[in-house]
Amino acid sequence: MADQQPFDSRDGVIWYDGKFVPWADANVHVLTHGLHYASAVFEGERAYAGQIFKMREHNQRLIDSGKLLGFDIPYTVEEIDRACVETLAKQGFEDAYVRPIAWRGSEMMGVAAQNNKIHLAIAIWQWPSYFDPAERLKGIRIDLAEWRRPDPRTIPSKAKATGLYMICTLSKHAAERKGYADALMLDWRGQVAECTGANVFFVKDGVIHTPTPDCFLDGITRRTVIGLAKARGIEVVERAILPEELDGFEECFICGTAAEVTPVSEIAEWRFTPGAITKTLMEDYDAAVRAHVKAVAAE
Ligand SMILES: Cc1ncc(COP(=O)(O)O)c(C=O)c1O
Repeated sequence: MADQQPFDSRDGVIWYDGKFVPWADANVHVLTHGLHYASAVFEGERAYAGQIFKMREHNQRLIDSGKLLGFDIPYTVEEIDRACVETLAKQGFEDAYVRPIAWRGSEMMGVAAQNNKIHLAIAIWQWPSYFDPAERLKGIRIDLAEWRRPDPRTIPSKAKATGLYMICTLSKHAAERKGYADALMLDWRGQVAECTGANVFFVKDGVIHTPTPDCFLDGITRRTVIGLAKARGIEVVERAILPEELDGFEECFICGTAAEVTPVSEIAEWRFTPGAITKTLMEDYDAAVRAHVKAVAAE
């Protein structure tokens, strides 16, 4: 969106290494290891009605992602949770996106950065939730990406690390140029993997099929949706899915913190009709985030 206010010049505060700093002053030096060598990990969390959904899981994954890149974030998960809650309160938002990011600093500038300080910042911006199920039920159009999720022997693919997003941006840009909303990436073996910022699910004969997350992010929303489906008695099969199989699926949806549960109508030449199971899980996910708000309020 060209008319969006740039992200480096907004109002408010950012939590930065334990202190609140004015939004426009939350900067790094150009000689920052994280910028040059992708030694950075991040999270994407969402607040609904002033409560961050699955905050603990996200902040634990942030710590775990740092460990996968060989560094310890110098805060406990409880401290990161508290910092997120305080930042949200300072910003005064109800429905918002929460972005913690940790990175190696500037003490050494080379591939090796054994002594670099690990920094942590948390920025929160307004992101009203999108609750128009009728409009969303039409489904989004997705292209097939040229780039593939890499072999886990070539990169720590379980980490939510910035370097893993290079091919996501390339794939999403290519898809958008062709008029698609997103791109589906296969993995290094040619199996269906995930979208550029969301996991993918398919439905056939009342059964849900989703790829086994052995070389891509096992999304927190993905796990939530699997739980919701099972609670409804819907069978969920996690397995290797080949692109040729896309012909036989009736419904398709993607899910993630940002995407929530979003129906898909097309992936390249394949067509899907958003149906009962997708609609049920959209509603159940909506109910789950709202139930969470009520549960926290009651504590
Ligand atoms: C590449 C990728 N896959 C999947 C997901 C979904 O993860 P989550 O549900 O934890 O937000 C995301 C979103 O962060 C992502 O960026």
